[in-house]
Amino acid sequence: MPQVVVLPPFTSVRSAPSLGFMESEIDVATAKALLEWQIDMGVTEAISETPINRYEVPKEAPKPKPKAAAPEVAVASTTDPVDEAKALAARAASLEELAEIQAAFPHCALKQGARNFVFADGKPEARVMVIGEAPGRDEDREGKPFVGRAGQLLDQMLAAIDHGRSDETNPVYITNILPWRPPQNRNPEPDEIAMIMPFVERHVALANPDVLVLMGNIACQGVLGMKGITRLRGKWVEALGKPALPMFHPAYLLRNPVAKRDAWHDLLMLQAKLRAGV
Ligand code: URA
Repeated sequence: MPQVVVLPPFTSVRSAPSLGFMESEIDVATAKALLEWQIDMGVTEAISETPINRYEVPKEAPKPKPKAAAPEVAVASTTDPVDEAKALAARAASLEELAEIQAAFPHCALKQGARNFVFADGKPEARVMVIGEAPGRDEDREGKPFVGRAGQLLDQMLAAIDHGRSDETNPVYITNILPWRPPQNRNPEPDEIAMIMPFVERHVALANPDVLVLMGNIACQGVLGMKGITRLRGKWVEALGKPALPMFHPAYLLRNPVAKRDAWHDLLMLQAKLRAGV
């Protein structure tokens, strides 16, 4: 059923008890995240509290006074988020520390719109580390990677080669490039990927798996600096000091079941590599 929410202009969000926030001045990024959350909740229309007479001739706004030339101020040089991420990630001596440090990283705008920080699932001591793209709606809700439909398919794919995130004998460790859900599941921007990659690199170094599985284009873009999963998949490459196997993302396989044949081929390659002791 369509739902309607009464929303005043972006700069001021007024009391909306059903939504649980009070009157406050909020910035555009927060307002955008709130709107996206409301869309997720099923809101389909936003209307103003007071009627607008669209036939009224607008009063001419007073002409702004010409501004005096701004005095020259030295702009304080801010640290580059990528450099800051590198320095922070290097401080982490364990996965727990890395998760804590990364969760507090302030420069990625995706953090503002996400409900949860999604770090990893499965067993960190696993020989296989799967790297996906970013949390979707279900992952954002639960705070765990790959728990939605794509995640269920991923579990089935791994089970087909006797692996699983909670398998005691053949465990896997699962993470994503991005720990925060991009709004409307849009593709992450290159700068968002760049500032998070130092954490991914440290994540791989600390987990120290035997092999990496790169699920889809965004994982390849982050780890290999390359896109084009159709060309990249099914071939072992070296990345972050590990053998890495690009594969089709399970979400892609849900949309293109015919590609499951290639995915099965790649899973067998993974199994053979693990059996050979890598
Ligand atoms: N897709 C991903 O790449 N990661 C998830 O965690 C969920 C869906």
